[in-house]
Amino acid sequence: MLAAMGPKNIAVLTAGGDAPGMNAAVRAVVRTALALGMRAHGIRRAYEGLVQGDICDLGARDVGGIIQRGGTILKTARFKDFAKADTQQAALQQLRARGIDALVAIGGDGTMRGALALHRLGFPVMGVPASIDNDVYGTDISIGVDTALNTILDAIDKLRDTASSHQRAFIVETMGRNCGHLALMSGIISGAEMTLIPEQDVPPEEVAATVREAYARGKTHAIVVVSEGAKYPAIALKEKLNAMNLGVDLRVTVLGHVQRGGSPSAWDRLLAARLGVSAVERLAKGESGVMVGLQARDVLTVPMEEAGSRQRQPDMEYYRMARMLAK
Ligand code: F6P
Repeated sequence: MLAAMGPKNIAVLTAGGDAPGMNAAVRAVVRTALALGMRAHGIRRAYEGLVQGDICDLGARDVGGIIQRGGTILKTARFKDFAKADTQQAALQQLRARGIDALVAIGGDGTMRGALALHRLGFPVMGVPASIDNDVYGTDISIGVDTALNTILDAIDKLRDTASSHQRAFIVETMGRNCGHLALMSGIISGAEMTLIPEQDVPPEEVAATVREAYARGKTHAIVVVSEGAKYPAIALKEKLNAMNLGVDLRVTVLGHVQRGGSPSAWDRLLAARLGVSAVERLAKGESGVMVGLQARDVLTVPMEEAGSRQRQPDMEYYRMARMLAK
């Protein structure tokens, strides 16, 4: 959507689960805004902070020294009340009271739903996808995914060392809410024997058979990567497999929130810079009501209606690859 004139006072927030690279994106947004002659504001604690008016000015120095830091200097929050019409109106009042005329919302699909609500009320918004889950519709990859994958890879490489020494099998649970992307990619890049994701139902009997076959082929360990949201989470799967007398010593590692932290990778910093710059340059040209995203090699946009209502699905070709390469 093209407005008559670009904004003069933009605000930026980070919302939902934090993702490595959010700070690099905040820095890119603020410095691009300043370079284009706008004022920049930071909204602390996401939409909750916005409703409460927790807003500060951001200058170039305020975003110095943060490009390498995980988490988000603006803090984040999950705020269910933002679905309510009166809460959205309160947010709008806070923005207008400070003369803020556009908002850059950095986060996952819930963040985009918040931005969509403001867009529907006529407020100029621009989305920047950041979530380790990689479930944001309209971008091939979100900020934070690459760093999370490297964290998972490092953990699985270490687990394989001890698994192999003891000839044990490990079930490793990754995050992803109800999206199997992180698990699927981890399965391929770590050489896991099996990967279980919410999008593909695999009976525990098949997992047991795969683990037994791996040992029969001469392997000294087996790694089963299980995504959060899969039918049997890691601990439940372990119980199922043990009840089948698997014949292999089993251990479980749930990686948990360690996947959300850490210094962003080179890829995530570059992606954050590209998306942050594009978001503000597009606002300056009068564009709004969209989310920027990486599509193939280019930074393009999708309407906020789509980013806020659809979910990106993992490419099941990767599932086929993971199974084939696990032999
Ligand atoms: O969306 C990111 C994510 O880490 C999901 O993978 C996970 O399901 C959820 O957030 C965990 O949320 P919280 O940090 O609120 O426990």
